[in-house]
Amino acid sequence: MKKGKYGKFGGQYVNEILMPILIELEEAFEKHYPTAEFQQKFNGLLRDYAGRPTPLYYAKNFSELVGCKVYLKREDLVCGGSHKLNNALGQALLTKEIGKKRLITETAAGQHGLATAMAGIVCGLETEVFMGVKDIKRQASNVKRIKLLGAKVTPVDIGTGVLKDAVSDTLRYWTSCSTTTHYLMGSTVGPHPYPEIVATFQSVIGKEIKEEILKKEGRLPDTIVACGSGGSNALGAFRPFIDEKDVKLVFVEGGGESLDADNSAAAFKIGKPGVLHGAVMQLLQDDDGQVKPSKTRSAGLNYPGRGPEISGLVANGRAQAGCAFDTQVFDAVKTMSRAEGLIPALETAHAIAYMLNHKEEFDKNELVVLNYSGRGDKDLETIMRYFDEA
Ligand SMILES: Cc1ncc(COP(=O)(O)O)c(C=O)c1O
Repeated sequence: MKKGKYGKFGGQYVNEILMPILIELEEAFEKHYPTAEFQQKFNGLLRDYAGRPTPLYYAKNFSELVGCKVYLKREDLVCGGSHKLNNALGQALLTKEIGKKRLITETAAGQHGLATAMAGIVCGLETEVFMGVKDIKRQASNVKRIKLLGAKVTPVDIGTGVLKDAVSDTLRYWTSCSTTTHYLMGSTVGPHPYPEIVATFQSVIGKEIKEEILKKEGRLPDTIVACGSGGSNALGAFRPFIDEKDVKLVFVEGGGESLDADNSAAAFKIGKPGVLHGAVMQLLQDDDGQVKPSKTRSAGLNYPGRGPEISGLVANGRAQAGCAFDTQVFDAVKTMSRAEGLIPALETAHAIAYMLNHKEEFDKNELVVLNYSGRGDKDLETIMRYFDEA
């Protein structure tokens, strides 16, 4: 397959100012990533700073609730509280190799902004984080963390003040400073080579799942379930299993209130292929092909597009797409909290809700790995308010 293309998805649809920068990034990645020196630095940071490998936890009580054997891949235990640091450390190291001194990025749940601020400090790079005004409000605790680490938080008030708008503003700003500044993309979205780079750095998740499940169960899982918007935690978990055709891959997106086009983020259910942020992806659009704003209570899943690689995997049938609705997601937070003593992020709770709502699809002998992408501390206020009002 042509580089950066995943079936009909992917590509590089960018302002010509950015083309040389994307080529520079691709060349740097291809040159440095495979070297023993880069691997040593990256794996060293993953181990000693991020806290990898993360455990694969047999969730006995949750298993009983859903009627099959479920392991949780504990990405909530990565320093910072989610999988986002895996990719941020990789790209920050790459930025140093390229010789740039600054990082910019966008964030919604705040997890990727926090991860970038952390990686910036570790690699001696100044960091600026663009964040929609709506997300600044609903993810206030992460905004405080990012600021405490000395990174600048720039509010974005265009559009509906959420992730899509923050990405647009970061891309716009990047065209003015791309020779000195690296845009540390937070998910498997954007123009080539970003989806490839992010998925490669995140695939440490799936490599660990493979090793750990073989040790614990002596076989591969039957199914891997992961939530997602752009797809970075899902692809991180899925990638090492894509050629293992007996392993079912289930991707869970944000259903929002309902599948009504004004109240959802479920691009696989109600979107179609289109271009956003430099690539063709599965996208929420109106009848004229204009991007439709997505809607879900989960900031990190509130993006109208699915990244090119996950779009391709769903289109060719290798992965299956499902969704969970907001009310089911809040219930799933409570269920997991009480079953296992673990409070999941609202994003992660989509994967949990999917399993709870599709119990009948899971066989009692089925071995399932649920990629537990993050912890729910950042969502506590939203969660408590929801239950107070409910
Ligand atoms: C905990 C958590 N899980 C999942 C996601 C969704 O992102 P992705 O699809 O890139 O994994 C986010 C995004 O912010 C997140 O914070």
